[in-house]
This record gives sequence, C-alpha cells and structure tokens, in this order.
Amino acid sequence: MSAQAAREVPLSTLSPKYLHTNSTSHTSAFSAIAALIDNAYDPDVSAKQFWIDKTLIKDNLCLTFMDNGNGLDHETMQRMLSFGYSDKTAVEGHKPIGRYGNGFKSGSMRLGKDAIVFSRSKSGMCIGMLSQTYLEKIRAKQIQIPIVCIKERNSSGYILLNDNPSNICSAY
Ligand SMILES: Nc1ncnc2c1ncn2[C@@H]1O[C@H](COP(=O)(O)OP(=O)(O)OP(=O)(O)O)[C@@H](O)[C@H]1O
Ligand SMILES: [Mg+2]
Repeated sequence: MSAQAAREVPLSTLSPKYLHTNSTSHTSAFSAIAALIDNAYDPDVSAKQFWIDKTLIKDNLCLTFMDNGNGLDHETMQRMLSFGYSDKTAVEGHKPIGRYGNGFKSGSMRLGKDAIVFSRSKSGMCIGMLSQTYLEKIRAKQIQIPIVCIKERNSSGYILLNDNPSNICSAY
C-alpha cells in the first residue's frame, strides 16, 4: 500500500477567524438578537421570560441575555458552542425555529467578540466560553471552547468538573 493510500481522511477544521466571518450573515444587530430570542423560545428550552440588559464590566460594555428555560449540561453546552448540531423537534405542536445549529454562534459573534454562557440545569451549573479575544491571545489555530461544569453541591461545597465531565478536578 502506498503512503498516500495509508493516510487517514483529513477532518475539516475551523479557523478562529471563521467566528467573525460567520457573524457577517447578520446584516443588522437585530437579527442577531432575534437568533438568541428564538433559542429561548424553542421547545427544548421553552422559556417563559427573556431579559435583555446592558452592563459595564471593567469598563467594557456587555450585553446580557437571560431566560428562564431549560438549561444545559456539559454535552449540550459543547454542542451549543459547536457548529451544525441541531436536533430540535416539535413538542406538543410547538415547532422549533432553530434547525441549522448556527444561530447562537453567528448571533453572539455579531453582537460582540466574546460570549460567556452561564447555565443552570437539573444536573448542575455549566459555564462555556466562545471568545475571539481568548483565541487570539493563545494564537489558537482552531476554535477552542473552554467549558467548566459544577456538578452538584455536597456537604463540603461544589464539585468542580474540568473539560472532561468524567474527570473531577477538585472539590471545595
Ligand atoms: N438559551 C438557551 N438555553 C438552552 N439551550 C440553548 C439556548 N440557546 C441555544 N441553546 C442550545 O444550543 C444549540 C445551538 O443553538 P443555535 O442557535 O446555534 O442552533 P439551533 O437553534 O439549533 O439552529 P439555528 O442555527 O437554526 O438557530 C441549540 O440547539 C440549543 O440546544
Ligand atoms: Mg437557534
């Protein structure tokens, strides 16, 4: 067998620059905001309320979007911050708007360079980050999405999980 034939089929990868490229599909900020509202409305989340606010953190203007729908665990947070994964189905006649697995990424990156997602679900709390600033600082060649999950509260505090949910890194 030749060396060429023995090579594995290469995976397509995503450059961090794609985060900005992808966001340009929103010609206005309003369609970007609509993408975030759609996500909260969709049947997998099914939020009853949605809040939009702005705040200053260390002199940086931040927009905050909050809903009271179903939250995310490590696996669903990873899918949320990845591209093209969407498996929304109708629930009791409530049809989903989302179908491409892209709206959060394009919408959030149209509104800012960095997004942090805080989520609480039955299984605990999860924080995920999609950050162009971070990727530029670490000179990333591909998009990396740090995720930290706090599983549950025990008598001595919270159990912190690192990127791999099966791997408890500290308890305090
Ligand atoms: N506010 C939210 N609360 C909980 N999960 C969310 C929220 N927003 C997004 N998600 C999850 O993240 C996933 C990705 O969202 P995204 O908007 O990128 O794709 P989509 O809604 O599936 O498809 P589309 O690109 O058509 O909007 C969703 O499928 C959903 O599971
Ligand atoms: Mg969506």
